[in-house]
Amino acid sequence: EQINKGKYEHYMQKEIHEQPESLTTTMRGRLIRGGSCKAKSVLLGGLKDHLRTIRRSRRIVFIGCGTSYNAALAARPILEELSGIIVIMEIASDLVDRQGPIYREDTTVFVSQSGETADTLQALEYALENGALCVGITNTVGSAIARHTHCRIHINAGCEIGVASTKAYTSQIVVMAMLALAIGDDTISSQGRREAIIDGLFDLPNKVKEVLKLDEEMKDLAKLLIAEQSLLVFGRGYNYATALEGALKVKEVSLMHSEGILAGEMKHGPLALVDETLPIVVIATRDACFSKQQSVIQQLHARKGRLIVMCSKGDAASVSVGGSCRTVEVPVVEDCLQPVINIVPLQLLAYHLTVLRGYNVDQPRNLAKSVTTQ
Ligand code: AGP
Repeated sequence: EQINKGKYEHYMQKEIHEQPESLTTTMRGRLIRGGSCKAKSVLLGGLKDHLRTIRRSRRIVFIGCGTSYNAALAARPILEELSGIIVIMEIASDLVDRQGPIYREDTTVFVSQSGETADTLQALEYALENGALCVGITNTVGSAIARHTHCRIHINAGCEIGVASTKAYTSQIVVMAMLALAIGDDTISSQGRREAIIDGLFDLPNKVKEVLKLDEEMKDLAKLLIAEQSLLVFGRGYNYATALEGALKVKEVSLMHSEGILAGEMKHGPLALVDETLPIVVIATRDACFSKQQSVIQQLHARKGRLIVMCSKGDAASVSVGGSCRTVEVPVVEDCLQPVINIVPLQLLAYHLTVLRGYNVDQPRNLAKSVTTQ
């Protein structure tokens, strides 16, 4: 596998820009286009002997750390919608600390780029002891999580070198969207929705190419933010995870304090932080939560918030409160796939902030690519 930097200066930069290709590889051979007598569908070979058990589960419990946890959180709404099964999210270390409930009737899904994260592995041992079906979603064939789970889906994103996970995140979301499609495959009432998502998946690499064109714009934004102490990111619904993941990227590489905030929680504390100095990214792309996000923008603006609004292409005028907010316009895709698009400008922002601030972008201080100790 080609793991040099090619024309790029850093691995993180290369890995951000190769997402159209990594996503294509993730989906290769797994999407069925359908035809005159065959419906569009998804084929996940690694799960074929276990799908019936998964469909009969009492709950599906997603377990991971850091970016891998955020990817599962991004996919949660579509998993709930298409599977009709209770979907629970667990941070691996917290599940183990609490010895939280895991039952024989549960399907547990372990999400890990490296497949070697100690916390996730410990949670896997715990789920095995409790008799749950264990599914692995990893980027590393032969990793401990891949070996010890009952069945697995390889994300095929290609080798990721930068400590900050970028292309693995978007591939993980796509794999979990495909998992939702596969679980819901026998439900006739959602066939139209599933077909729209499959069409959206086919077109996703092109849309990612389009959003990568924001590179220069995000570099300009990074120049504006270079000396800031802190950056807040507000999201909700499908893009709550984008807010968490965007903030995680900014803090782990640029070493700027950053916090992802569920916009619905704004009035329950975070609003006190808002003034004319603190920069705030608000994710307000088109989906069922759009009007709520418009109201959040109005309220932040009324408190003189310094807003950067991420919106759908063509929406800049309707979200910028009379042109007073900076906007970043992104291409529109099916709502459940929008997190794949929306994270890209934030990855680019984190990358440029780090380079401009003079920090090590591929190897941030104190961090390891794979956290193999507890
Ligand atoms: C991602 O940018 C981080 N470096 C970190 O949060 C990472 O996602 C976490 O340690 C989990 O790693 P894994 O996916 O290899 O299990």
